[in-house]
Amino acid sequence: MDMCSSSTTPPVFLEETVKIEDQVKSQENESIPKLQENVVHSHVTGECQDNRKDFNDEGSSSVPSPQKFLPINYSSYTKEYYSYAGKNIIIQESIESYGAVVWPGAVALCQYLEQHSEELKFQDATAIEIGAGPGLVSIVASLLGAHVTATDLPDVLGNLQYNILKNTHKSTVHQPEVRELVWGEDLELNFPKSSYYYDFILATDVVYHHYFLDKLLTTMIHLCQPGTVLLWANKFRFSTDYEFLEKFKQIFNTTLLAEFPESTVKIFKATLKWD
Ligand SMILES: C[S@@+](CC[C@H](N)C(=O)[O-])C[C@H]1O[C@@H](n2cnc3c(N)ncnc32)[C@H](O)[C@@H]1O
Repeated sequence: MDMCSSSTTPPVFLEETVKIEDQVKSQENESIPKLQENVVHSHVTGECQDNRKDFNDEGSSSVPSPQKFLPINYSSYTKEYYSYAGKNIIIQESIESYGAVVWPGAVALCQYLEQHSEELKFQDATAIEIGAGPGLVSIVASLLGAHVTATDLPDVLGNLQYNILKNTHKSTVHQPEVRELVWGEDLELNFPKSSYYYDFILATDVVYHHYFLDKLLTTMIHLCQPGTVLLWANKFRFSTDYEFLEKFKQIFNTTLLAEFPESTVKIFKATLKWD
């Protein structure tokens, strides 16, 4: 399915009525999102346009040697083009890794963040993204003024760093950081509660068929402190996704912020239950 084809069913925002013309489309392949090259996903108009000329993609002298961050383990790359927070964003992807592709939850959360950044008080807030993949959400959060730490598995970090540098260099108040965070591993060692406080935890499409769901939950809990808000967007595909949600709700005060019926993406806001 074309990710950019116009939609007849608008997303349903539950906390308030907000109209968004564009919406996340469900993917042709349920396992891994389909790539689409050289297309701008306009969240405002819902239309797609070839916008290659508008991007100073190659040979930008203002970006410090981004090529050095390229991982050596992907044999081919494609690019996707987005527009959020008044800026064109280029995401370098590879279908060779789940972590090198933008998933539908990321697109949904970017829309939401853009439309609600003021009420969320994103300006100068601290945010950590877990399972950041190619980095679209971290980039948008950073463009909206947050101080962002984007994290993922080690083999994903090269492409993540590349995308983040390319899209935020000299465009953000706080330069985002990229760090390794393997769910459930060395959390207190690498992210001690006494040193790190996050206003927001961002997570998109981190729940799917994998063996680390308990470790994911442990990580979410570890990164929460009083006042921390977890924003989690996910495409719901499998019964195990709903099982995770039930477990999640036992641990977090959970509000459904938005849902996109066609794509089965839901966005949740959650705070840890402290008692
Ligand atoms: C489906 S992708 C989603 C990527 C991105 N958040 C998005 O929505 O476009 C899942 C992400 O979780 C990361 N991930 C999977 N298992 C992980 C683990 N055990 N620890 C840390 N990250 C993990 C993957 O590397 C990948 O980037």
